[in-house]
Amino acid sequence: MNAVPAPRSGIERDEFSRRRRQLMRIIGREAIAILPSAPVRYRNGSVEYAYRQDSRFLYVTGFTEPEAVAVLVPGRPQGEYLLFVRERDPLRESWDGGRAGPEGAVAHYGADDAFPITDIDEILPGLMEGRARIHYSMGVHTEFDPKVLGWAHGSRGHSRHDARVAQEFLSLDHVLDDLRLYKSRAEQSRLRRAAAIAVAAHRRAMRFVRPGCMEYQVMAEFAHEFRVHNAEFAYQPIIAGGAHACVMHYRNNDARLNDGELLLVDAGCEHQFYASDVTRTYPVNGRFTPEQRAVYEVVLAAQLAAIDKVRAGNHWNDPHEAAVRVITQGLIRLGLLKGRLQTLIKEGAYQSFFGHRTGHWLGLDVHDVGDYRVGGAWRVLEPGMALTVEPGIYIRPERGTPRAFWNIGVRIEDDVLVTQGEPEVLSAGLIKDAEEIERWMQAK
Ligand code: GLY
Ligand code: MN
Ligand code: MN
Repeated sequence: MNAVPAPRSGIERDEFSRRRRQLMRIIGREAIAILPSAPVRYRNGSVEYAYRQDSRFLYVTGFTEPEAVAVLVPGRPQGEYLLFVRERDPLRESWDGGRAGPEGAVAHYGADDAFPITDIDEILPGLMEGRARIHYSMGVHTEFDPKVLGWAHGSRGHSRHDARVAQEFLSLDHVLDDLRLYKSRAEQSRLRRAAAIAVAAHRRAMRFVRPGCMEYQVMAEFAHEFRVHNAEFAYQPIIAGGAHACVMHYRNNDARLNDGELLLVDAGCEHQFYASDVTRTYPVNGRFTPEQRAVYEVVLAAQLAAIDKVRAGNHWNDPHEAAVRVITQGLIRLGLLKGRLQTLIKEGAYQSFFGHRTGHWLGLDVHDVGDYRVGGAWRVLEPGMALTVEPGIYIRPERGTPRAFWNIGVRIEDDVLVTQGEPEVLSAGLIKDAEEIERWMQAK
């Protein structure tokens, strides 16, 4: 059998081992951590979904195969990092492709020791014995939960008379997710690349769009650009013409794009496991109506004000507060809200037009992990954190709202990295100035 090369995730082996060391230092020698891989899931009948590794498991191991379990046993003299993986199997590999096997898990993934996954029932209870804390995230891979409970029970049975068997289950998520929030240099460069591919795809789509084309045809432009760069959709894209832009999670993507309408495209890719999440809104025919343009300018001003707040030392909600202020001012100016600015902000009047938050963490997951509040206060932004900035205005047809504004939905979304200084807009290569968009679309 041929050796199976380690997959190229763009992250060095040393970085994974650094992450494991950090985790083990935090959980301590009384603890054991158990992380299962994502299960294979079926779409229909015997057709599998494309396999995507669990992000937490991946962050700790770099291992991309299913049916694997990682175990961290801090301070264990015979080895602290163990992997249970599928055994090599020439027949299965001839159908489904190569496997690392236990040998590969040690040789390529830095495991101190590795075993066939089929031996886990024999081995894991022994590893859990005497460990006061079991770090395992219940309720994520629910089919795996009873096994862990069973092993814990077994390990207690072995050492009934040991005073330290009062085992406590703790989630590993909190500790792990906090590490994930700070993107290393290698991760930042993965995010930069994912954003660059999304930028190229949005450009391609902008060139393609014209009245009469279909939303799914625009989606195909993204699919092409993503796959050409070995990336894929990081989430189901929103390709929303006209009124569809006001449906927050519109994903049918099957309607015709009409002259005079706006198109809102929220599409990002995953490349080497890191995500981008980018939205642009532009006129199908290349020219904004005065009302579309007026709304667009408000959202853009809000987005720029919010991005300017993505600075180390500011707190998580600063960009949102900046966006809310500019949007509320804009809605008053457009006659869509009436009242005093401060009162409208306090009452949340903007929420009927801007009903979502201004952003979220970005990383291995599109909505990446990490707390937004710490000890009751908004989290302070620090270099290495990555987030989206994505204000919007969505105007549903309602009495009291001038007809010319009906069904206008605008969102502008970029991916931003917190640095020591100026915010780094990872998707900055994509135009968003209204005039620039018009020039660009008309020149095509
Ligand atoms: N594309 C999902 C989001 O913008 O959060
Ligand atoms: Mn998005
Ligand atoms: Mn987003």
